[in-house]
Amino acid sequence: MGNSRCLYPGSFDPVTRGHMDIIRRAARMFDEVVVGVLHNPEKQGCFPVPKRVEMLEKACRAIPNVRVISYGGLLARCTKEMGISVVVRGVRGVADLESETAMARINGQLNPGLETVFLPASPETNEISASMVRQLASFGADLAPYVPEQVLPDILAAFERIPEMNKEG
Ligand code: PNS
Repeated sequence: MGNSRCLYPGSFDPVTRGHMDIIRRAARMFDEVVVGVLHNPEKQGCFPVPKRVEMLEKACRAIPNVRVISYGGLLARCTKEMGISVVVRGVRGVADLESETAMARINGQLNPGLETVFLPASPETNEISASMVRQLASFGADLAPYVPEQVLPDILAAFERIPEMNKEG
């Protein structure tokens, strides 16, 4: 086998502790994990793509075999261009499994030989989603249990709730 690589794709809008659980576990299984911020150039998310990459890089700094990239296009094309043949996705339950299976099959049709490996979410992070984090952030709830500590200030700043401000009040 030798030099094993995988792509862990997602929107990462923003990165959560759930993503970090999958990245850490994938980094133990593969020589290199390429974390890919996949985005549709026509659709705007909450955080700009370069900011998502920056937050992922901060959160992954202590894991040496992780690299972060962004790609505006099809996952099947991204893996082909990078010469990667394994995609890793986390699944949180049957709902995820159903949609992820459909996605894995389509990606395999678009790029024959491409395999998708599912990792079951850990119980501690099973309920976390980026959309939930965005919603909690918009209402000023405590995000610390859900996002990596390295990026908490970035998320708070984006939602204009800078920690310094809250300390005063
Ligand atoms: O974190 P998410 O939002 O669950 O990630 C979804 C993502 C980005 C992996 C998926 O939407 C994707 O692969 N987008 C790229 C476009 C593409 O290849 N679509 C066809 C997949 S069936």
